[in-house]
Amino acid sequence: MSKALEGVRILDFTHVQSGPTCTQLLAWFGADVIKVEKAGEGDATRGQLRDIPDADSLYFTMLNHNKRSITLDTKNPKGKEVLVTLIKQCDVMVENFAPGALDRMGFSWERIQEINPRIILASVKGFGPGPYVDCKVYENVAQCAGGAASTTGFDDGPPMVTGAQIGDSGTGLHLALGIVTALFQREKTGRGQKVLAAMQDAVLNLCRVKLRDQQRLERTGELKEYPQYPEIGFGEAVPRAGNSSGGGQPGSILKCKGWQKDPNAYIYFITQAAVWPAICKVIDEEGWITDPHFATPTARLPHLKMIFDRIEEWTKTKTKFEAMDILNKFDIPCGPILSMKEIAEDESLRATGTVVEVEHPTRGKYLTVGNPIKLSDSPTDVTRSPLLGEHTVEVMAQMGYNDEQIAQLRAERVI
Ligand code: COA
Repeated sequence: MSKALEGVRILDFTHVQSGPTCTQLLAWFGADVIKVEKAGEGDATRGQLRDIPDADSLYFTMLNHNKRSITLDTKNPKGKEVLVTLIKQCDVMVENFAPGALDRMGFSWERIQEINPRIILASVKGFGPGPYVDCKVYENVAQCAGGAASTTGFDDGPPMVTGAQIGDSGTGLHLALGIVTALFQREKTGRGQKVLAAMQDAVLNLCRVKLRDQQRLERTGELKEYPQYPEIGFGEAVPRAGNSSGGGQPGSILKCKGWQKDPNAYIYFITQAAVWPAICKVIDEEGWITDPHFATPTARLPHLKMIFDRIEEWTKTKTKFEAMDILNKFDIPCGPILSMKEIAEDESLRATGTVVEVEHPTRGKYLTVGNPIKLSDSPTDVTRSPLLGEHTVEVMAQMGYNDEQIAQLRAERVI
């Protein structure tokens, strides 16, 4: 079966996590992704957090599937010539260097356009134009600057970062959408364009409900679905809301049977208004269906803590999976807190290709995530990440270099 992005060639100048997640996604959709790496060194993540000596780390392998790798010294004049050839023959160039690095290399947007007016230059940067435009940025910096950290955690604790890599992988996703949109527009205009996804912007986009709450707080002085209400007063800024739901249906994390020993024996429980009578029946509080203190969502808001305490009395008598089975019968929205071990062993996630096992020449078998976006006409086959420079000769030959030229560039350590 053909792939959605077949025929699209990507010059992948990305490293670490944010850029590589973007190009990996494009590769999963069928694009030919050529990852350009520094000769001898490669992407720094190849050697970071290693679990097997001398083998590419899981960090690297899990971010660079379905790509080809070439090594190239782009600071060497002959390396720059090779880069020009690559730019001429690619549809998209993706990079996430520190601000200014590409310009210093001699490849400003103007120069790139001169070489290939149809090319799309897609960049991840930490910040957009403004006071921090020149800063280097990693995941947690973006989470802090994008509003995630100040709104995550508990009210009586410090700001907290989340385990989900919303700054890196989240921005990579945004950039991938920007790229396919620019490719779509190029179909009509014939022109390439510059695509920018700033990590701060991407995190804020994912935190928009907190910007919503900031304005509600300024207008009304309180946020009635937050755990602070009604006992604790509100300040000027949106406080951390613990495990409260970010939407209009109150929710919380509740203990389940075994919570004393198992750190993940919990369930997320949502008191959706539509199933309130069913919730009352399950926890044996049928009087709450009509009691004016509990009968409507608005009436329940001042009593949420008490309501969740009562529901927790019930969830503590069931394992998270038993509770799921019972609650699902009544269409009560809920979800088990799954450990990474449980997720890694989940057969249904493997069956859908969301978790896949890959064979690697130096690592052996390892688990990784597959494409979370499923296209019915463009299925994803996850293949292993490339070894450093594995495809240098193949790609150079494809670009029109003959054996002698390739040998010469190799002897001069350009490739
Ligand atoms: N050949 C020769 N030189 C190369 C090269 C190649 N193939 N590829 C990269 N380089 C050079 C760059 O030109 C740059 O040189 P310069 O600083 O002399 O101009 C240098 O390698 C390093 O690039 P840089 O991006 O500064 O790497 P870093 O390790 O110091 O910083 C980040 C890493 C992630 C902090 C930084 O790249 C960054 O802020 N990126 C944007 C935001 C981002 O994506 N962050 C998330 C990362 S998960």
